[in-house]
Amino acid sequence: MQEKLKGIQQEALRALEEVDSLDALDKWQTKYLGRSSALMDVFKSLASLSKEEKPLVGKAANQVKLALEKSSGEKAAQLEARRIQESLAGEKIDVTLPGRSITSGRLHPTTQTLREIYRIFGDMGFQIYRSQEVETDLVNFQLLNFPPHHPARDMQDTFFLKSERDRADNPLMMRTHTSPGQIHAMREHNRKYPEDPPPIRIILPGMCYRYEQITSRSEIQFNQVEGLAVGKGITFGDLKGTLSNFARRMFGQDVKTRFRASHFPFTEPSAEMDVGCFLCGGQGCSVCKGTGWLEILGCGMVHPVVLENGGFDPEVYSGFAFGMGPERITMMRHHIEDIRYFWANDLRFLEQF
Ligand code: DAH
Repeated sequence: MQEKLKGIQQEALRALEEVDSLDALDKWQTKYLGRSSALMDVFKSLASLSKEEKPLVGKAANQVKLALEKSSGEKAAQLEARRIQESLAGEKIDVTLPGRSITSGRLHPTTQTLREIYRIFGDMGFQIYRSQEVETDLVNFQLLNFPPHHPARDMQDTFFLKSERDRADNPLMMRTHTSPGQIHAMREHNRKYPEDPPPIRIILPGMCYRYEQITSRSEIQFNQVEGLAVGKGITFGDLKGTLSNFARRMFGQDVKTRFRASHFPFTEPSAEMDVGCFLCGGQGCSVCKGTGWLEILGCGMVHPVVLENGGFDPEVYSGFAFGMGPERITMMRHHIEDIRYFWANDLRFLEQF
């Protein structure tokens, strides 16, 4: 019996050496320490042994049992340690890997252009004046010297506000340009300084609306930046100096400018400013349509009627005004061929700026 027990122990320990996982250890325990193991059979057979044999075999069997339990306990600890080590290795952080880049938002290309315009005119002492988007026909057109049936109104097909249609002489509407802000600004200035008002130097940025066919060139909603300077002794020379300086700071020190005669009801004389095409350097390309020049803005000396409507005596005061489209400028700068991109919210477009 003692021999048999020794055999059981040796076989069990040899088998334990092969055990390589907690699962396998479970099976090993069933096989060598379980109810129907050879060792348990020895315990069961104790009853049939003689008085002398019983304690000897019982003791020896117990020793084998304790030895096997101890070894399997050690094995379990070993396997558990290995499991923990392996799972830690799986979570290991390689600090030499390149970091994940953080995606960050950016400003809309029009906003970028707008901010640049604010900065340049801010440096020249212009303040920002905000004016309402809902206007009356009176301020949007009439006070700016557009008579009721003036042909220039055709260029500015208008969104009228429905509930106000019955006010036929002065309907409410979405402003078609930022120029009506000139009237509000001048009147507010006069209210603030009833006696001898100091000069006005402002830009008026904001959204404008036109009831037009949407195409690659025209949108029903777009930004404008208006400019207005009013004071004593302001001349066309001041206008040219201010706008040429703006062009140099916006498009580069070497940019050429030219002023072409034009017509607007609210300025006299009126002009349009072109800059030498900064894409082809004046050689002629698809953006400047072969002319070498890009039209940037409309401008002129504030019409005496408009000065008067703003509360300034045209005999004493003069001023200049200008208006430009930041989307148009952005399109030229970045060679963007379709204005509809500005409102499409397509990330593939927006992420380029
Ligand atoms: N209001 C004009 C437009 O919408 C732009 C403009 C031209 C504004 C000449 C001005 C100006 O102040 O002097 O198209």
